[in-house]
Amino acid sequence: MLNIALPKGRLGETVYQRFAQAGFPCPSLLENSRKLTFENLEAGVRYFWVKPSDVAVYVERGAADIGVAGKDILLEYQPDVYELADLNVGKCRMAVAGFPGKPEAQTLRVATKFPNIAKSYFTSKGRDIDIIHLNGSIEIAPILGLSDVIVDIVETGKTLKENGLEVLEEIIPISARLIANKASYKFKKDTIQAITESL
Ligand code: PRP
Repeated sequence: MLNIALPKGRLGETVYQRFAQAGFPCPSLLENSRKLTFENLEAGVRYFWVKPSDVAVYVERGAADIGVAGKDILLEYQPDVYELADLNVGKCRMAVAGFPGKPEAQTLRVATKFPNIAKSYFTSKGRDIDIIHLNGSIEIAPILGLSDVIVDIVETGKTLKENGLEVLEEIIPISARLIANKASYKFKKDTIQAITESL
């Protein structure tokens, strides 16, 4: 059995279709239920839906052999896994955003869900920063004066626009990646390589 962790949500459903086309279908997975694990003995696969930010944890610890995780999560948490392929879906970018104009503060207050990405970006620019670690609705922080800027994912740009904010600096493009547990890659190499190529 190959254990595959998929990110719950729309991206996961798109990605599952690609796995199905690659020869690893599991039709019960798309039934509208609250079940989280699905298997197809014939195809030799077991899928589970997990929170997108947790996929890398399951794969790193071997609970899943492979999985699909955003490059944002891989950069932030640096899990000890193999990154096998860029699936070219879930495309967005990591950016610094704020009110139009250059923020003046000497020590920039940065609100973000991605403290490590933010730290390494501003350190590489030689900027002094104060990280404010939030878990969501990051765009509110500059509006309420909690931070000068944010570091966050921008997909359509709609959330920024509707809150009067804009991209100030692009950090890095993001997309979904196929990742593998290192031991699984060794012991299930043929299957994992076949999936990687088909995807
Ligand atoms: C993400 C991200 C932005 C928004 C960007 O938030 O943090 O807020 O999507 O998308 P857009 O450019 O298409 O508007 P998410 O929906 O994950 O919710 P969150 O506020 O809980 O982080």
